[in-house]
Amino acid sequence: MESYFRGSLWMIFILVSLARLTCNMFCPSGCFCDPTGAVMCVGDTITDIPEHLPVHTYQLLIKRTKMNVINEQSLANKDLVLRFSLTYSHLHTIHPRAFHVARQLKSIQLSSNDLSTLPARVFSPLVALEQLFLDGNQLEILAPDMFEGLVSLQALDLSSNKLTSPASDLFDGLTSLDFLNLGRNSIKKLPPTIFHSLTKLRQLIIYYNELEELEVGIFDKLVNLMELRIEHNQISSLPSQVFWSLRNLKTLTLSNNQFLVVPDRTFYFMPKLRKLTLYNNPLLSLPDEMMGYMPELTEFYLFGTNLTTVPGNVFANMSGLQTLNFHLNDHLKELPQDLFCCLPNLTKLSLKSNNLSRLHPELLSKLPTLNTLVLNNNKLENLPENIFQNLTGVLSIDLKNNQLQTLPGDTFSSNTALKNLSLNGNPWNCDCDIRGIARWIKHNEQVVLDSEDVMCHSPVYQLLRTVSSLRDDEFNFCDATTVHFAATTDTTPPSNRVTTQEQTSLPLSTTTSSTTQQTTQQVSTTALLSQTTQQILTTAVLPQTAQQAITTTPPPQLTTSDASSSLPTAADVQSNEAQHKSSSFLELLVIEEGPDFVHHNSYNVWVYVWFLPSDAISVGFLMFSHILLVATGLMLILATMYVMKRLNETIDALQCEQDCNVECVIEARVRDDKTF
Ligand SMILES: *[C@@H]1O[C@H](CO)[C@@H](O)[C@H](O)[C@H]1NC(C)=O
Ligand SMILES: *[C@@H]1O[C@H](CO)[C@@H](O)[C@H](O)[C@H]1NC(C)=O
Ligand SMILES: *[C@@H]1O[C@H](CO)[C@@H](O)[C@H](O)[C@H]1NC(C)=O
Ligand SMILES: *[C@@H]1O[C@H](CO)[C@@H](O)[C@H](O)[C@H]1NC(C)=O
Ligand SMILES: *[C@@H]1O[C@H](CO)[C@@H](O)[C@H](O)[C@H]1NC(C)=O
Ligand SMILES: *[C@@H]1O[C@H](CO)[C@@H](O)[C@H](O)[C@H]1NC(C)=O
Repeated sequence: MESYFRGSLWMIFILVSLARLTCNMFCPSGCFCDPTGAVMCVGDTITDIPEHLPVHTYQLLIKRTKMNVINEQSLANKDLVLRFSLTYSHLHTIHPRAFHVARQLKSIQLSSNDLSTLPARVFSPLVALEQLFLDGNQLEILAPDMFEGLVSLQALDLSSNKLTSPASDLFDGLTSLDFLNLGRNSIKKLPPTIFHSLTKLRQLIIYYNELEELEVGIFDKLVNLMELRIEHNQISSLPSQVFWSLRNLKTLTLSNNQFLVVPDRTFYFMPKLRKLTLYNNPLLSLPDEMMGYMPELTEFYLFGTNLTTVPGNVFANMSGLQTLNFHLNDHLKELPQDLFCCLPNLTKLSLKSNNLSRLHPELLSKLPTLNTLVLNNNKLENLPENIFQNLTGVLSIDLKNNQLQTLPGDTFSSNTALKNLSLNGNPWNCDCDIRGIARWIKHNEQVVLDSEDVMCHSPVYQLLRTVSSLRDDEFNFCDATTVHFAATTDTTPPSNRVTTQEQTSLPLSTTTSSTTQQTTQQVSTTALLSQTTQQILTTAVLPQTAQQAITTTPPPQLTTSDASSSLPTAADVQSNEAQHKSSSFLELLVIEEGPDFVHHNSYNVWVYVWFLPSDAISVGFLMFSHILLVATGLMLILATMYVMKRLNETIDALQCEQDCNVECVIEARVRDDKTF
């Protein structure tokens, strides 16, 4: 069994080798002959098609040779050759009857040669021809009947030639044509009926020409067209409805033209469109009705325009959109609120390098599937609160190179999937407002991949520090500092004065020791609180308490305390005017980033505000003074009690002596004896 098997293997091997040998025996020099019937001839030694080819050759490829001419007999006696290719060979002349001897050809490729003219009707005998590639030559003019009779032709490539104005009947009769490439020529004008025979055409490529306009009705018969590429021309206006017959179109590229406007409803009736490009056009505006129903559109490119804004519904009919590149529009200032209302499947949104200075709070609220958001290189100065709240699946947000100075600390708190956030290149202002986001960055350094480059630009003393290096306790001073008064009523006296006094002028001396004690406790507990929970302490103008120099407890309803919200933002406190009749001109007391504790008191129409700085030395000093005072008080009381006792005893003794009462004396004696 085994030997039989081995024998057959040897047999097969010998047969195959023989076949190869035979093949090679007849393979012309300079050529490679494949046993399956392909022959490839390469090199300068080749100047014409070899006379003898292996009999079963069906494909003949000639490449990089010196075969400059196809003679009348070059292709004679090669009846089995169906595919003929002669490329990169400086071919410049074809005999007018060269293909009469090879009517069986199905495919001819003469790409990358030096053909500048073709004999009249040179291809006309080729009724079986399916593919004709003439790209990469010097063809300038084609006779109108050049392709006459090619009823089987499916693909025609005329790209990379020097065609300027093809005749209107050039493609007449090519009723089988599926693919036509006219790209990379110098075509300035296409006659309106040039494509009217091509009812089976599925791909039409006209890119990289010099077209300045498209004629009305030029695509009207192309009902089967699936791909239309017109990018890189000079077209400045489109006839309205020019694409309306293209109901099967899947790809339409119009980028890199000179469109300033697009007519109303230009892209209606293309329900199968998947890709549309409009980028690099100096578009100034878009019509309110532009995009018809196109649920299958997945890629839309609108960038490099001169648009300053877009209609709010421009993307509304693109419900299947997955990638939207709406960037590099350096005149784009703002985006309508509902622009991204209807894109339930969008995963990537690029808005980079626009000129956006702000975003509407609701702009990104309806993009549930977004995973990449690119916003870098804009002019964003701030972001609305909660702008990213609904982007629960977002993986990457790029905010670099904007004008952001700070962000709320909870900006990214909903973006639990976030893996890549870029924040560098913004002029971060590392004062109190940065506290929350600085803390978030520090806790999420594996997300903020560029955190080493997220630098403070101000204030001066924080220059060159990274935001993530800011320690939380550096911000303790922020909890309250500045006081603004806003006077509102017309009766406002010209001088709305704020009297602020430093700790040294705290009128300790005018208060009783017990009041001082209370106050000091308050001071220290507040300092403690603000250090541990970053509580924002705000105090309001209180009802008149003119006699009491220090008020201790702010009304609870006016105290903002939000330990979880991490940002000590300005706390606006509205004074209760009704309660404050004697100084009714005061309406607003705002306390921003200040020391930990503030007292105030109003007297007549003046309000006095005292600050207690938060630093430990002052607090310590106060504590020390307080203890000293209490101790002194206690000492005095003890001393007084002792003195009182002694006084009492002396008085008793004196009374005894006066009365000369024996019993009394005896009693005194007994008492004295007991003592010893
Ligand atoms: C969406 O397409 C439909 C049908 O083509 C059209 O009637 C409607 O006006 C389009 N909507 C927008 C916002 O363009
Ligand atoms: C479009 O903007 C560019 C600069 O961004 C400018 O050079 C060009 O003139 C503008 N085109 C029009 C038509 O406004
Ligand atoms: C969004 O994508 C899902 C899944 O790929 C698909 O079933 C759905 O039809 C798409 N929605 C739209 C509006 O295209
Ligand atoms: C970008 O916007 C700023 C104002 O925000 C404006 O001064 C500037 O001219 C705009 N740039 C362009 C190219 O329109
Ligand atoms: C988030 O989505 C919900 C439901 O769609 C909506 O009610 C809410 O306003 C959105 N939030 C923001 C900040 O847009
Ligand atoms: C993070 O995002 C930036 C910009 O969006 C990108 O250049 C970078 O490659 C991303 N890094 C990773 C690890 O995904």
